[in-house]
Amino acid sequence: MLPLLGPDTAAALRDGLRRNGYTPDGVRNLLGPAAHAALGRGEPEPAARASRDGGELGVLVRLLLLGAVEPDPAVAAALAPLAPADAAAAGLLRRVDTGWAAELDLRPYGEQGADWWVLSDLDARRQQRDHVTGVGAASLTLAAATVRRPAASLLDLGTGCGVQALHATRFAARVTGTDVAPRALAMARATFALNELDVELLAGPWLDPVHGRRFDRIVSNPPFVPGPPRVDYVYRDSGQGGDAALAALLPDLAAHLEPGGVAQLLGSWLHVAGEDWPDRVVSWLPPGVDAWVLQREVADPALHVGTWQRDAGLDLAAPATREQTGAWLDWLARERVQAVGFGHLVLRRTEGAPTVVLEDLSGDLEDPLGPEVEGWLDRVDWLRAHGGDAELLAARLAVAPTVLLETYAQPGADGWAEVGSAVARQDGPRWRHEVDGPAAALLAGCQGALPLGELFELLALAHDRPVGELVAASLPALRELVRHGVLVPVPFETAPFEAAP
Ligand SMILES: C[S@@+](CC[C@H](N)C(=O)[O-])C[C@H]1O[C@@H](n2cnc3c(N)ncnc32)[C@H](O)[C@@H]1O
Repeated sequence: MLPLLGPDTAAALRDGLRRNGYTPDGVRNLLGPAAHAALGRGEPEPAARASRDGGELGVLVRLLLLGAVEPDPAVAAALAPLAPADAAAAGLLRRVDTGWAAELDLRPYGEQGADWWVLSDLDARRQQRDHVTGVGAASLTLAAATVRRPAASLLDLGTGCGVQALHATRFAARVTGTDVAPRALAMARATFALNELDVELLAGPWLDPVHGRRFDRIVSNPPFVPGPPRVDYVYRDSGQGGDAALAALLPDLAAHLEPGGVAQLLGSWLHVAGEDWPDRVVSWLPPGVDAWVLQREVADPALHVGTWQRDAGLDLAAPATREQTGAWLDWLARERVQAVGFGHLVLRRTEGAPTVVLEDLSGDLEDPLGPEVEGWLDRVDWLRAHGGDAELLAARLAVAPTVLLETYAQPGADGWAEVGSAVARQDGPRWRHEVDGPAAALLAGCQGALPLGELFELLALAHDRPVGELVAASLPALRELVRHGVLVPVPFETAPFEAAP
C-alpha cells in the first residue's frame, strides 16, 4: 500500500505529533544523550528503557521509532485527534492482535531553526525492490554540502523520502522533486503534506520530467552504486552498468541550469586499470561549467560490494548473497575495475573560462562542506577575474585567520633539525600545503597591506634572486592557496583587523 496523507489526516497527525513533542529535541530530551546515541547506532534497547516513563511521547517513540506493538488505547491517546484506524487507512499503521504497529518509518528530523517529520519505509522492508530509504548517511552528507544561498528554483532529482527538498524549502522559493519510483513519490508527497510544504513532484527517470526547464540549483543523491546493469534496489542501482548513469547524467545537467546555476551530486566512478579516475570523470563534463569533484573515499572491489550488500541488510554468508556478490565481483573484474571512488560533484554553469578541479579529500569532516563549496565558487570567480599575472600581482591577499604554519623536525645529533613546513587550515576541509622557506616568508607578508607584487620585490631583495623567477615559480601555487582558502583576497574580509587597546 502506498502512503496517502490527505489534508485532514495530515493536519490531525501533525497535531498529535506536535502536542506530544515528537520533535528532534523532544525525542532527544526524553531518551537522554546515551540512549539517543545508541538508537542512532541501531541499538534500540536503551531507548526502549528510556521511553518507559515517557507517557504519550514514549508511546510514539516505541511505536514509530522502535518497531514496538502498542495497545489500542495508548495509540489512540498518543495520536489524537487522529484515530488509529485513520492512520492505518493512510498507510501509517497496521493492526496486529494486541494493538497497532507502524507500517512506515515516521521520524522527527531537523536542522538549526527547522523541525520536520520524514516518512520512509521501515528497515524491515529493506529488501523490497522499491524500498524507500529514510535519512541516511549519504542524505546527510549531501545536505551538509549543499549551497544554502537564496535561490529562485531548485530541483531535487531522485527525491525519495524528500529529505533534500525539505532542506531546500528553507532557501529556494520553488522546489521541484522528481523520482522514477511511484512509491518514493508517494512517500515524498506524504512527507511534504505532513510538513505543510508546497513542493512540486514529478514522475520519471533522470531529467525527463523537467525537459526544457532550468533551475538555479540542482541537488541529487542518485542511485550511484556501480555494479552490473540490473536493478535489485531502486534506491541504489541505476540499472546501467558501472558508472554509466553518472556519465550520461552529467553532460545533460548544464542545459537544466540557469546561468550561474549550481548542481551538486553525490556520485561514484570506477578506477579502471590503465586509466586515471580524473580523466574518466572529466570526460563526462559538459562544456561551460566550473567543476569541483571531491573524491572522499576509494574502496577496493571487495570492500565496495561488501559495503553495499551489508547496507541492503543481506547476510553476507548466506548462499544466495554469496552467489550475487560473486557475480558482482566478476562483473567488476571483467570491466578491469581496480577500485571504486565516491564523492561530491559540484557543477556551475559559467560564461567564463571554466575551472575544473578534481582532488581527493579523505577523512572525517568536522565542519559542513556547504560553506566551503560556497567559498570555492567565490574564490574561483575571483581567480577568474584575476586571471592574468598582472591582476594577481596587484591584489592584496591575507593568510586566512584559521591557518597555522606547521614545522616538522627530526631528532638529530644537535637536537631537533627542521625538515619541512606546511600551511594548514584548521577549519573546513583542513587543506594543507607544504611550503619552503621563501614561500613561508612570502606568506608571512600576506597581511592584506601590500600588493602581492611588492611582496615579491621584497622577497627577491632578501633572497638575492630575480623577482621574475620568483614570481614565475610561485604564482601557480599561490592560485592553489587562494582556491583552497588558505590565502584570502582582502575584499573578502568582513572587518579590518584592529589591535586591542
Ligand atoms: C539514494 S536515494 C536518495 C533519496 C533522497 N534524495 C536522499 O537524499 O536520501 C535515490 C533515489 O533516486 C531514485 N531513482 C532511482 N533511479 C532513478 C532514476 N532513473 N531517475 C530518477 N530517480 C531515480 C530512487 O527511487 C531513490 O528515491
